[in-house]
Amino acid sequence: ASTSTKDTRGRPLRDLRISVTDRCNFRCTYCMPKEIFDKDYPYLSHNELLSFEEITRLTTIFASLGVEKIRLTGGEPLLRKNLEVLIEMLAKIRTAADQPLDLTLTTNGSILRKKAAALKAVGLHRLTISLDGLNDDIFKKMNDVDFPVTDVLDGIAAAQEAGFTNLKVNMVVKKGTNDQEIIGMAKHFKGSGVTLRFIEFMDVGSSNGWDMSQVLPSQEVANRIHAVFPIEPIEANYPGEVAQRWRYLDGSGEIGFISSVTQTFCHECTRARISTDGQLYLCLFANEGFDFKTLLRSGRSDLEIANAIMSTWSGRNDHYSEIRGSNTAAVNTRKVEMSYIGG
Ligand code: GTP
Ligand code: 5AD
Ligand code: SF4
Ligand code: SF4
Repeated sequence: ASTSTKDTRGRPLRDLRISVTDRCNFRCTYCMPKEIFDKDYPYLSHNELLSFEEITRLTTIFASLGVEKIRLTGGEPLLRKNLEVLIEMLAKIRTAADQPLDLTLTTNGSILRKKAAALKAVGLHRLTISLDGLNDDIFKKMNDVDFPVTDVLDGIAAAQEAGFTNLKVNMVVKKGTNDQEIIGMAKHFKGSGVTLRFIEFMDVGSSNGWDMSQVLPSQEVANRIHAVFPIEPIEANYPGEVAQRWRYLDGSGEIGFISSVTQTFCHECTRARISTDGQLYLCLFANEGFDFKTLLRSGRSDLEIANAIMSTWSGRNDHYSEIRGSNTAAVNTRKVEMSYIGG
């Protein structure tokens, strides 16, 4: 195993996204539609989840193999009991170059007011909050549980008060559902130090009713914003960054576009994902994962697990976004659900 192992498309392994729970208190229609994620949905039981010790062990091994960034996701990661304890454990891990990991988390913000200070105290570096609009009726249509906008905004404020900088806000844009919120969101976060990112509605999982007619291409979002607040593209922070960065010409900050549908970024995809139940997925749109939970629970050494990761990675050929059609079901019918794999 070596830190420079590349997959079959020449891509190194640099980021690990870890889903810590398959549960969420929202029912966003594009992620956990109510009709499927109802009270009878078979959520994982506690012993099916990776334990904090198992996650920490795996992360240590991934870090030794070249991973530099860890993102905790869900479901809603802040619903995992004692998550602060896990973050404190992960914050001690060093990269192969003996640097701290870039330790980040994506949350819906609903209980961030309660958690922000503790997250900061245990060493979380960065936070991304999802918010799909500022109008309550529209936001409630997206989250489908009547959750109000003000509580998420208050969570963002709490994160700032706790000392988090470089906050990001993710807005999934569904044409005809919340695209009228684009300008309002841009205006709200412009000049606030928070980077707003617009995400094209994706065909993740197999239950969110995706079709191309509900995708508003990022270029159109950019055009709409440019007409009101002039913007220009800027350089990526690092190779393989998911979002394309743009800045306001008046110097009041930047925004981002995540265009998995209309401008794919598979060619530099350095991300692996660990699902809530300990499967290693090499693509957001994979049909199946590799069972690392069983490996972890069968007395294998760290070296054996490292070798298993690298042999899995070196065989990786995924590039789903490049080959999806307007009818995704024809390409892939049994994609893993977003709430298992965390986006
Ligand atoms: P930073 O660059 O560290 O801020 O994080 P990020 O943009 O990778 O993470 P975030 O959780 O904010 O993800 C933003 C959106 O990009 C989500 O909708 C993800 O599902 C999507 N995304 C992240 N990585 C990939 C990827 O490899 N492929 C695709 N298709 N979408 C991705
Ligand atoms: N398309 C695009 N983005 C999605 N997310 C969840 N489901 C989808 C989808 N179908 C986003 C969430 C969150 C991030 C982790 O993924 O809103 O911001
Ligand atoms: Fe929950 Fe996030 Fe999925 Fe919405 S997108 S249902 S907040 S995990
Ligand atoms: Fe990576 Fe798969 Fe997303 Fe392409 S579709 S960028 S290979 S996770």
